[in-house]
Amino acid sequence: MRAAPLTFLLAASMLAAPALAQERPAGLVGSGVAPSTRANSAERPISWAQAVPGGASLIIPVAGPLDVAKAAPGLPAETAAAIQAAAKAARFEAKPLSTLKLHGVGGHPTVVLVGMEALTAPKETALADAGGKGMLALREEPNDIAILTGGLPAGSAPYVAFGAALAQYRYDRLKSEAKALPANPVMVVSPDAGAQAAYERDLAHLASATRFARDLVTAPASDIYPESFVAAVQRELKGVPNVRITVLDEAQMRALNMGSLLGVGQGSRRPSRLLAIEYRGAGDAAPIAMVGKGITFDSGGISIKPAAGMWEMKGDMSGAAAVVGAAIAAAKRGAKANVVAVAALAENMPGGGAQRPGDVVRTMNGKTVEVINTDAEGRLVLADANQWTIRQYNPVAIVNIATLTGAIVAALGEEYSGLFARNEDLAARLVAGGARTGEELWRMPLHPSYAEDMASEIADIKNSKEGGRAGAGTAAHFISFLTPEPTPWAHVDMAAVDRAESDLPTVPKGPRGYGVRLLDQLIRSYQK
Ligand code: BES
Ligand code: ZN
Ligand code: MN
Repeated sequence: MRAAPLTFLLAASMLAAPALAQERPAGLVGSGVAPSTRANSAERPISWAQAVPGGASLIIPVAGPLDVAKAAPGLPAETAAAIQAAAKAARFEAKPLSTLKLHGVGGHPTVVLVGMEALTAPKETALADAGGKGMLALREEPNDIAILTGGLPAGSAPYVAFGAALAQYRYDRLKSEAKALPANPVMVVSPDAGAQAAYERDLAHLASATRFARDLVTAPASDIYPESFVAAVQRELKGVPNVRITVLDEAQMRALNMGSLLGVGQGSRRPSRLLAIEYRGAGDAAPIAMVGKGITFDSGGISIKPAAGMWEMKGDMSGAAAVVGAAIAAAKRGAKANVVAVAALAENMPGGGAQRPGDVVRTMNGKTVEVINTDAEGRLVLADANQWTIRQYNPVAIVNIATLTGAIVAALGEEYSGLFARNEDLAARLVAGGARTGEELWRMPLHPSYAEDMASEIADIKNSKEGGRAGAGTAAHFISFLTPEPTPWAHVDMAAVDRAESDLPTVPKGPRGYGVRLLDQLIRSYQK
């Protein structure tokens, strides 16, 4: 008695089933259901003041032996003395990056002391770290915050503000009930009336470009794929003067014989793109070119990766995020330099149409590559992107940045990215930029033996050697081989440093936006 109606219902619903084509609109890739349409919660706006605001929580950078009155000249003497006494009782020593949190002193709900080295000219990174460290300590602070920079040498405040901006990065747009972090202002207190303008015309843009790069890296691959990466950059650069954006689609790349880049994306339903941002701030001079690996997801392709950790490969476009971030910062701050940033964008997926191990592809310049391992895909997209960039822009130098090899992670850990270069001047500029920004580089060799390792039996070169050693170096050799001389070339393998696994002073645990500051320094080194 009970079974009959069920049978009837099943039959009826089968009859009513709509045709497949209507169920899933043509061209739809993915579920068509966005997990969120919100933006990240607002960060604390950075504002400026010349006097210490009453009632705000305080961050006080203290350089050298503890002397609160000297570190915070704007504080009433009795408040400074009370903080001094409390810090002494807590045995606080003002060593670099040591912090102490006090509550309810002199009408200030919270006071954070941040130690620094006592120097007449503190490093820019030390200043940014002090601002960042203070902000990390006050991430959940509900009150307004004031950072007191009056005790630091003239010119320090913009770097402290920069660190404070970087450290409050948040990515909460995908939480359905965001427990938003407080967004009331942070005031940088500086007696220097020019500090605000100096910050706002320069480092504020670098901070926002770094935030943009971090968002791209953190966003899931369902959100950021080659076309949506391009759209995000176009939105970010809308109305910015002296910028030209060029986008090559697959048909245009096919016409240029970019078989190496196209081969990587051919197993994905998301079409590949080549994106170039050209910023001209210095007339007709040849530009500095930066070319980033933009694999929006690296499954390994047919040479598929193991499951553990594969999710992190949504960030395999960190190099592309770094180059576009640096170019956006340069354009927005109006740098007197000519810059080209190129993002080589593809999704590396397995599938019926994917390239196979053993396939041979042709790069734009006619060189051929045997694809031994489809997971060595970054070098394949960079080869075509470099050839195109050199032909198109004839740059003074070309720099690659890429999450290229697991081998560099094994070699250098999280402290350095690896630098390969065939030009000493370019290498020196990059190493100096790394030291200045804290995005440090370690020079690695390009030994002639790598050429034998990468020799192919049937093509000009192969993309990987099975059981090969010097995995980062042979990858660098591969790119060098396919990057036409005599253009000065360098390559930064940033596979180990794209994410911070715990808080750094200017990076809350998560994407570092690594490379934006480094490449910004490279651009500055060419500035007129
Ligand atoms: N994107 C990876 C490299 C990577 C590994 C980045 C770990 C970040 C963390 C790259 O495409 C890759 O798969 N490289 C292979 C190359 C190998 C197949 C020759 C590697 O390093 O294992
Ligand atoms: Zn990869
Ligand atoms: Mn790979």
